[in-house]
Amino acid sequence: MLTAKNISVTLGKKPILNNVDFSANAGEITAIVGPNGSGKTTLLRAITADLEFSGSVHLNGHDTRQMKAYELAAIRAVLPQSTSLAFPFNVLEVVRLGLTTGGEAQRENLPMQALARVGLTGFEAKYYQELSGGEQQRVQLARVLAQVWEPVIQGAPRWLFLDEPVASLDIGHQLMVMGLAKTYADAGGGVIAVMHDLNLTAMFANRVALIDRGEMVAQGRPAEVMREKTLSDAYGCHLRINTTPPDGEVFLLPHVATI
Ligand SMILES: Nc1ncnc2c1ncn2[C@@H]1O[C@H](COP(=O)(O)OP(=O)(O)O)[C@@H](O)[C@H]1O
Ligand SMILES: [Mg+2]
Repeated sequence: MLTAKNISVTLGKKPILNNVDFSANAGEITAIVGPNGSGKTTLLRAITADLEFSGSVHLNGHDTRQMKAYELAAIRAVLPQSTSLAFPFNVLEVVRLGLTTGGEAQRENLPMQALARVGLTGFEAKYYQELSGGEQQRVQLARVLAQVWEPVIQGAPRWLFLDEPVASLDIGHQLMVMGLAKTYADAGGGVIAVMHDLNLTAMFANRVALIDRGEMVAQGRPAEVMREKTLSDAYGCHLRINTTPPDGEVFLLPHVATI
């Protein structure tokens, strides 16, 4: 389990997050949603111990501030919102970076398996810089998967933290990546993903946390959080929410009053 309590973050002199409580369970996908600039990436960076914050974060019962970098790297991998590389690495070398930080260093064949998982078999010798944005994003996903390949080790769940993992992907690859996340969670791992696509969120997330202007507005199952007024207020636009028969899955359409 991940439990974050009273998280506040100030960047420069600007308060970005204000006493945010957030939790996520292993075995589930937890989505963090909210408008641009609301603090989603900042929350993800706080709970991955990537920036200074006040409050506390416990991962699998351990205070993350007391954990050493290698201990954290062995149980959680982070896909940042954007990644630039200073050197001309090829694809296989980028994926292998995951092995150097995680607990899977002995598993030489993992990078190729991870590339296959994201549909990039045959890309291993290509230069990372020469790939499309969506292909680069899947290479990065292969890297984080290689880092924490087994969703559970010695009875303890491992965690994927993904900042907009499907942002530059076509719809087929969006479903592929969300399917991967679901497989990881179904096998006992934890997945925490910042998401913009609310329909994909409703389809895949077990729990949703909605942030607006640095505050946690709502947290719960998709049907509890994804209500017309709650979302329309947060995103500042008119949204219509409906459910698909027979399972009552939420879907959502933008509503433009005057065209
Ligand atoms: N290093 C920084 N210094 C000052 N402000 C920042 C910094 N990084 C982000 N911010 C501000 O924090 C707010 C939240 O950013 P972020 O967490 O990236 O939003 P989101 O991921 O929800 O779009 C934004 O207003 C952004 O401009
Ligand atoms: Mg962001």
